[in-house]
Amino acid sequence: MALQLLEAKEIGRVRSLKRILVKYVGFVLCGVAFAVPGMAQSVRFNDQVVIDQGQALFAENCAVCHGDKAQGAVKEWHKPDASGKYPPPPLNGTAHTWHHSIGALGRTIRNGTLQIGGSMPPWGGRLSDDQIFSIIMYISSLWPEEVYQAWMQRNQQ
Ligand code: HEC
Repeated sequence: MALQLLEAKEIGRVRSLKRILVKYVGFVLCGVAFAVPGMAQSVRFNDQVVIDQGQALFAENCAVCHGDKAQGAVKEWHKPDASGKYPPPPLNGTAHTWHHSIGALGRTIRNGTLQIGGSMPPWGGRLSDDQIFSIIMYISSLWPEEVYQAWMQRNQQ
């Protein structure tokens, strides 16, 4: 019974993330504003209210590990420490966060990385999908144009 309840809750969560993704895909599609020969450029997400909310949530929950400007904990973020764990990487566009689609980032943030041998706690129980979405919109607002556009291309694949 408890397990069933848990599953129902999990399904509910997945559904609400899907709703946000549908919102987001709409944003990606609407974002295709003009075409440079052979390449569609996306307009950046610019809802400042959402970005500001994400910034505040980031400062409160994430900055302690990822840095107050999302610059990461150490310079050598791609090298594991003595115990084999990776340090919190920069999320400001200088690392590889943009390689992951919005859905993949949402899952990483919700689930954390403890189960896969990392050290980030899960946020799913503490932050809503809307709040996680706003944090992703905040960190991606820090990315240089070419990184943002490359991320958009990944999101459309
Ligand atoms: C206790 C420290 C800690 C906190 C707090 C933390 N993280 Fe992390 N995070 C990590 C570590 C360490 C990694 C690297 C993956 C791993 O654990 O091996 C990571 C990885 C990530 C990644 C994947 C980055 C990439 O480039 O693939 C994202 C996205 C992320 N964190 C977002 C967040 C967000 C958003 C918050 C706040 C809601 C947060 N993190 C809070 C430690 C933390």
